[in-house]
Amino acid sequence: MMLNLAVLISGSGSNLKAILDACSADAFPARVRVVISNNKDAGGLAHATHYKIPVHVIDHRDFTTREEFDERIHTVLQSYPVDIICLAGFMRILSASFINQWAGRILNIHPSLLPAYKGLHTHKRVLENKESVSGCSVHFVTAGLDDGPIIVQKSVPVMADDTPDTLAARVLKEEHKAYPEAIRLLAEGRVCFLPDGGVEIKN
Ligand code: GRF
Repeated sequence: MMLNLAVLISGSGSNLKAILDACSADAFPARVRVVISNNKDAGGLAHATHYKIPVHVIDHRDFTTREEFDERIHTVLQSYPVDIICLAGFMRILSASFINQWAGRILNIHPSLLPAYKGLHTHKRVLENKESVSGCSVHFVTAGLDDGPIIVQKSVPVMADDTPDTLAARVLKEEHKAYPEAIRLLAEGRVCFLPDGGVEIKN
Protein backbone atom coordinates (compact mmCIF):
# COMPACT_ATOMS: atom_id res chain seq x y z
CA MET A 1 0.00 0.00 0.00
CA MET A 2 1.23 3.48 -0.89
CA LEU A 3 0.87 5.75 2.15
CA ASN A 4 0.10 9.43 1.70
CA LEU A 5 1.98 11.54 4.22
CA ALA A 6 1.65 15.02 5.65
CA VAL A 7 4.78 16.23 7.42
CA LEU A 8 4.58 18.94 10.08
CA ILE A 9 7.76 20.85 10.91
CA SER A 10 8.97 23.90 12.81
CA GLY A 11 12.70 24.00 12.14
CA SER A 12 15.56 22.74 10.05
CA GLY A 13 13.60 19.76 8.76
CA SER A 14 16.41 17.26 8.43
CA ASN A 15 13.93 14.50 9.29
CA LEU A 16 11.59 15.86 6.61
CA LYS A 17 14.51 15.65 4.17
CA ALA A 18 15.21 12.05 5.19
CA ILE A 19 11.54 11.18 4.59
CA LEU A 20 11.50 13.01 1.23
CA ASP A 21 14.72 11.30 0.15
CA ALA A 22 13.27 7.91 1.07
CA CYS A 23 10.03 8.69 -0.79
CA SER A 24 11.98 9.61 -3.93
CA ALA A 25 12.77 5.91 -4.45
CA ASP A 26 10.12 4.26 -6.65
CA ALA A 27 10.02 1.20 -4.40
CA PHE A 28 9.43 3.14 -1.18
CA PRO A 29 5.77 2.71 -0.17
CA ALA A 30 4.96 6.33 0.78
CA ARG A 31 4.79 9.82 -0.72
CA VAL A 32 4.72 13.23 0.97
CA ARG A 33 1.60 15.10 -0.19
CA VAL A 34 1.88 18.26 1.91
CA VAL A 35 4.24 19.96 4.35
CA ILE A 36 2.92 22.28 7.06
CA SER A 37 5.11 24.58 9.17
CA ASN A 38 4.06 26.84 12.02
CA ASN A 39 7.19 28.89 11.33
CA LYS A 40 7.60 30.78 8.08
CA ASP A 41 11.38 30.80 8.55
CA ALA A 42 11.70 27.04 9.02
CA GLY A 43 14.76 25.90 7.08
CA GLY A 44 12.95 22.66 6.26
CA LEU A 45 10.58 24.46 3.90
CA ALA A 46 13.38 24.53 1.33
CA HIS A 47 13.45 20.71 1.26
CA ALA A 48 9.73 20.63 0.47
CA THR A 49 10.16 23.21 -2.27
CA HIS A 50 13.09 21.26 -3.71
CA TYR A 51 10.82 18.23 -4.09
CA LYS A 52 7.92 20.41 -5.35
CA ILE A 53 5.70 19.45 -2.41
CA PRO A 54 2.87 21.88 -1.51
CA VAL A 55 3.74 23.92 1.57
CA HIS A 56 1.46 25.70 4.04
CA VAL A 57 2.71 28.04 6.74
CA ILE A 58 0.19 28.24 9.58
CA ASP A 59 1.50 30.54 12.29
CA HIS A 60 0.13 29.57 15.70
CA ARG A 61 0.44 33.22 16.78
CA ASP A 62 -2.38 34.08 14.39
CA PHE A 63 -4.83 32.07 16.49
CA THR A 64 -6.33 32.81 19.89
CA THR A 65 -6.56 29.21 21.05
CA ARG A 66 -4.69 25.97 20.45
CA GLU A 67 -7.94 24.41 19.20
CA GLU A 68 -8.40 27.06 16.49
CA PHE A 69 -4.83 26.56 15.31
CA ASP A 70 -5.34 22.79 15.21
CA GLU A 71 -8.65 23.17 13.36
CA ARG A 72 -6.89 25.17 10.69
CA ILE A 73 -4.28 22.43 10.33
CA HIS A 74 -7.07 19.84 10.13
CA THR A 75 -8.83 21.81 7.38
CA VAL A 76 -5.64 22.07 5.31
CA LEU A 77 -4.93 18.36 5.80
CA GLN A 78 -8.40 17.51 4.55
CA SER A 79 -7.67 19.15 1.23
CA TYR A 80 -4.94 16.56 0.52
CA PRO A 81 -5.03 12.79 0.46
CA VAL A 82 -3.46 12.17 3.88
CA ASP A 83 -3.22 8.76 5.55
CA ILE A 84 -0.53 9.54 8.11
CA ILE A 85 0.71 12.75 9.75
CA CYS A 86 4.43 12.74 10.56
CA LEU A 87 5.52 15.22 13.19
CA ALA A 88 9.15 15.99 12.44
CA GLY A 89 10.54 18.57 14.82
CA PHE A 90 7.08 20.15 15.11
CA MET A 91 7.33 22.19 18.28
CA ARG A 92 3.63 22.63 19.10
CA ILE A 93 1.57 20.38 21.33
CA LEU A 94 -1.55 19.19 19.51
CA SER A 95 -4.91 19.32 21.28
CA ALA A 96 -6.65 16.14 22.42
CA SER A 97 -9.49 16.73 19.95
CA PHE A 98 -7.06 16.90 17.01
CA ILE A 99 -5.26 13.76 18.19
CA ASN A 100 -8.60 11.94 18.54
CA GLN A 101 -9.64 12.97 15.03
CA TRP A 102 -6.44 11.39 13.70
CA ALA A 103 -6.17 8.56 16.23
CA GLY A 104 -3.57 6.00 15.23
CA ARG A 105 -2.54 8.10 12.24
CA ILE A 106 -0.04 10.53 13.80
CA LEU A 107 3.64 9.67 14.23
CA ASN A 108 6.31 11.60 16.09
CA ILE A 109 10.07 11.29 16.41
CA HIS A 110 11.71 11.99 19.72
CA PRO A 111 15.47 12.18 20.36
CA SER A 112 15.63 9.73 23.28
CA LEU A 113 14.98 6.09 24.06
CA LEU A 114 11.41 6.56 25.25
CA PRO A 115 9.92 6.23 27.78
CA ALA A 116 13.12 7.78 29.15
CA TYR A 117 13.68 11.51 28.70
CA LYS A 118 10.34 12.77 27.45
CA GLY A 119 10.11 16.50 26.80
CA LEU A 120 12.78 19.04 25.92
CA HIS A 121 16.58 19.20 26.37
CA THR A 122 16.95 15.42 26.21
CA HIS A 123 20.65 15.36 25.31
CA LYS A 124 21.64 17.71 28.12
CA ARG A 125 19.72 15.60 30.64
CA VAL A 126 21.17 12.34 29.28
CA LEU A 127 24.70 13.75 29.75
CA GLU A 128 23.93 15.10 33.22
CA ASN A 129 22.79 11.62 34.23
CA LYS A 130 25.97 10.06 32.77
CA GLU A 131 24.02 7.59 30.64
CA SER A 132 26.12 5.34 28.44
CA VAL A 133 23.45 4.87 25.75
CA SER A 134 20.91 7.17 24.14
CA GLY A 135 18.97 7.14 20.90
CA CYS A 136 15.71 8.00 19.23
CA SER A 137 12.15 6.70 19.06
CA VAL A 138 9.40 6.89 16.45
CA HIS A 139 6.03 6.46 18.13
CA PHE A 140 2.32 6.87 17.59
CA VAL A 141 1.04 10.11 19.09
CA THR A 142 -1.51 9.81 21.87
CA ALA A 143 -2.78 12.49 24.22
CA GLY A 144 0.21 12.23 26.61
CA LEU A 145 3.40 14.09 25.65
CA ASP A 146 5.95 11.75 23.97
CA ASP A 147 3.85 8.90 25.32
CA GLY A 148 2.35 6.73 22.56
CA PRO A 149 3.28 3.20 21.51
CA ILE A 150 6.77 2.89 20.04
CA ILE A 151 7.30 1.66 16.48
CA VAL A 152 11.08 1.93 15.95
CA GLN A 153 13.98 2.78 18.25
CA LYS A 154 17.67 3.17 17.46
CA SER A 155 20.41 3.53 20.02
CA VAL A 156 23.80 5.24 19.96
CA PRO A 157 26.68 5.22 22.46
CA VAL A 158 27.22 8.27 24.63
CA MET A 159 30.92 9.27 24.56
CA ALA A 160 32.82 10.59 27.56
CA ASP A 161 33.59 13.90 25.81
CA ASP A 162 30.10 14.43 24.33
CA THR A 163 28.40 17.80 24.47
CA PRO A 164 24.65 18.09 23.90
CA ASP A 165 25.47 19.10 20.31
CA THR A 166 27.77 16.17 19.50
CA LEU A 167 25.29 13.73 21.03
CA ALA A 168 22.40 15.38 19.17
CA ALA A 169 24.26 14.97 15.88
CA ARG A 170 24.90 11.27 16.52
CA VAL A 171 21.25 10.69 17.45
CA LEU A 172 19.99 12.73 14.49
CA LYS A 173 21.81 10.42 12.04
CA GLU A 174 19.83 7.52 13.49
CA GLU A 175 16.59 9.54 13.39
CA HIS A 176 17.05 9.84 9.64
CA LYS A 177 17.04 6.04 9.35
CA ALA A 178 14.36 5.43 11.96
CA TYR A 179 11.60 7.60 10.46
CA PRO A 180 11.62 6.02 6.98
CA GLU A 181 11.85 2.59 8.61
CA ALA A 182 8.75 3.24 10.74
CA ILE A 183 6.83 4.57 7.72
CA ARG A 184 7.74 1.45 5.75
CA LEU A 185 6.57 -0.84 8.57
CA LEU A 186 3.25 0.97 8.63
CA ALA A 187 2.84 0.95 4.84
CA GLU A 188 3.58 -2.77 4.72
CA GLY A 189 0.93 -3.41 7.35
CA ARG A 190 3.55 -4.83 9.67
CA VAL A 191 2.66 -2.51 12.51
CA CYS A 192 -0.74 -1.31 13.58
CA PHE A 193 -2.16 0.88 16.27
CA LEU A 194 -4.56 -0.99 18.51
CA PRO A 195 -7.73 0.61 19.90
CA ASP A 196 -6.45 0.19 23.49
CA GLY A 197 -3.48 2.38 22.57
CA GLY A 198 -1.02 -0.49 22.14
CA VAL A 199 0.87 -1.47 19.04
CA GLU A 200 1.09 -4.77 17.18
CA ILE A 201 4.24 -5.67 15.26
CA LYS A 202 3.93 -8.50 12.74
CA ASN A 203 6.94 -10.37 11.40
C1 GRF B 1 14.87 16.15 16.10
O1 GRF B 1 15.89 15.87 17.01
C2 GRF B 1 13.58 15.53 16.55
O2 GRF B 1 13.75 14.30 17.20
C3 GRF B 1 13.09 16.56 17.53
O3 GRF B 1 13.41 17.79 16.94
C4 GRF B 1 14.53 17.64 16.08
C5 GRF B 1 14.11 18.10 14.72
O4 GRF B 1 15.15 18.13 13.81
N1 GRF B 1 11.69 16.34 17.84
P1 GRF B 1 14.87 18.43 12.28
O5 GRF B 1 14.04 19.70 12.19
O6 GRF B 1 14.15 17.24 11.69
O7 GRF B 1 16.24 18.63 11.66
